[in-house]
Amino acid sequence: MRVGGIASYQCEVTSRMELLEALSWAQTHKVPVKMIGGGSNIIWRDEGFPGLLIINKILRFELFNEDELNSYITVGAGEPWDSVVARSVQAGLTGIEALSLIPGSAGATPIQNVGAYGQDISQTLTTIEAFDIQAHDFVTIPALDCGFGYRTSRFKTTDAGRFFITGITLHLYHQNPQPPFYPALATYLRDNAITDVTPAAVRQAVIAIRSSKLPDPATAANTGSFFANPIVSEGQLIQLEADHGEVPHWKTEEGVKLSGAWLIEQVGLKGFHDPATGMAVWDTQALVLINEHTESTAALLSFKQMIVDKVAEKFGITLVQEPELLP
Ligand code: EPU
Repeated sequence: MRVGGIASYQCEVTSRMELLEALSWAQTHKVPVKMIGGGSNIIWRDEGFPGLLIINKILRFELFNEDELNSYITVGAGEPWDSVVARSVQAGLTGIEALSLIPGSAGATPIQNVGAYGQDISQTLTTIEAFDIQAHDFVTIPALDCGFGYRTSRFKTTDAGRFFITGITLHLYHQNPQPPFYPALATYLRDNAITDVTPAAVRQAVIAIRSSKLPDPATAANTGSFFANPIVSEGQLIQLEADHGEVPHWKTEEGVKLSGAWLIEQVGLKGFHDPATGMAVWDTQALVLINEHTESTAALLSFKQMIVDKVAEKFGITLVQEPELLP
């Protein structure tokens, strides 16, 4: 979002040994530590971070073909995520092709269980390798112990700050992606008469859809979806539809998922440019906020609060911020 204060200290680590050195330096100097990947889903407070910021640049890409169908890739946490997707697609593998063009690093994907167009990282992840500051050792965490849910995991809830992720292993398949496809993807494939649905075809389709809807963070400061889609009970949905007519929703294992973008649109804020804070709601995807000329995180947060309040006032639903606010 290109706002927020500065960190007192910063370093890059390219190996597990360097990570240990950085952690030991921080311990000696008694400063807190935060590790980041690409920083694309973080908003820093104006006061900055009075500690050591470690930027994970651990690179590694190993492909292991178990048999004709099953393959595993082990990647360093500092690998740029989209390059991991590109290489897996190039190898003809399915499992993460719908997660194309997502900014950030591979090691950050489990934190918020990155997901898009019908796939999320919890579906393919087998293990995470991390340094555990409680055990003071490297550990391997199986996917079942990651506490994955919609846009969440133990790494951003109960165990926030405990693990420094150094690598992830994914189970991918040598086959074509299987339907049913996410609605926007299915529409794109149909409209473009794509019948041979290979991993490469899905990657190309997702890149086209994302590019048409979402702002490129290189040119418009944004963190992708600024809010998570709210999850409500069946009872709440009935009440909402009694009050407001038809409300777009999807039934999931965790409850009824509503479209946060739709709610923001309904309160008239889609495409709203605010001269007071310098923030705006993106014209083609109302869940995305962009920084047009904001100078502080405080201004950004007041714009966010205005949106939260308007949606709460009309629908009685509190939108929850999706990117991390640090420190
Ligand atoms: N919609 C609106 N108004 C809008 C945009 C969407 O009403 O301005 C409604 C439409 O009914 C549409 C539905 O919302 O069919 C879903 O829209 P979309 O497919 O764009 O997905 P989303 O729920 O808004 C989520 C993720 C995105 C991900 C897309 C595609 C979250 C918080 N966001 O958005 O992830 O790319 O699905 O799978 O779950 C991100 O996390 O940064 C991100 C971009």
